[in-house]
Amino acid sequence: MKLFLDTADVQEIRQAADWGVLDGVTTNPTLVAKSGRPHQEVIEEICQLVDGPVSAEVVSVDAEGIVAEARELASIHPNVVVKVPAIREGLKAVRRLSEEGIRCNVTLVFQPLQALLAAKVGAYFVSPFVDRMNRVGEEGFRVVEQIKRIFDHYQFETQILVASVRSPLTVLQAALAGADACTMPFEVLAMLYQHPMTDLGLEAFLKDAARIPGGVSAPVH
Ligand code: E4P
Repeated sequence: MKLFLDTADVQEIRQAADWGVLDGVTTNPTLVAKSGRPHQEVIEEICQLVDGPVSAEVVSVDAEGIVAEARELASIHPNVVVKVPAIREGLKAVRRLSEEGIRCNVTLVFQPLQALLAAKVGAYFVSPFVDRMNRVGEEGFRVVEQIKRIFDHYQFETQILVASVRSPLTVLQAALAGADACTMPFEVLAMLYQHPMTDLGLEAFLKDAARIPGGVSAPVH
């Protein structure tokens, strides 16, 4: 499963890229607004930092406007994947864009049939928003599992990108469900590296290693 950061903060992206597990980045207007930087500038910089898909979202809600915006975003860098909302005009635009070879991430997906429509129009990714579903009392993961079954039945190439992630548990569920990718905030990615038993075990090993005569790598004569 590919691991993406859901952020427009280049410091976070730089740090995670250095850990060697970062496969891509997703942004949205809220995250870009938080960065306080112009949209195109921040997307361009992210593309320099990560060699993988970088999702950048359109804000038009009519097919013509979405296509125009998407072409512009896609021209920033070959790794840009254009995020388009799962509305009728959005899916109309995705059909045209995918025929032009522009990859699209259909976002704000809350039920499996939206994903089916997105796959039919050639979306590259679909993004079910798991935590936002959980927050309104729906089981986000049931939706992901259903999308997976539908895509498997019909051998759609569209990839499932699990989004709206709040904790490592959701990342685990994404991997168990066979999602293609999971995007998460920096803090969640950092948490995947943490386990108190690992820290305690390491502490004891290091303490004991210090009692080994000559140290652990002393040559044998
Ligand atoms: C996905 O691409 C979205 O940017 C993101 O995951 C939004 O989710 P959230 O705002 O609920 O965290």
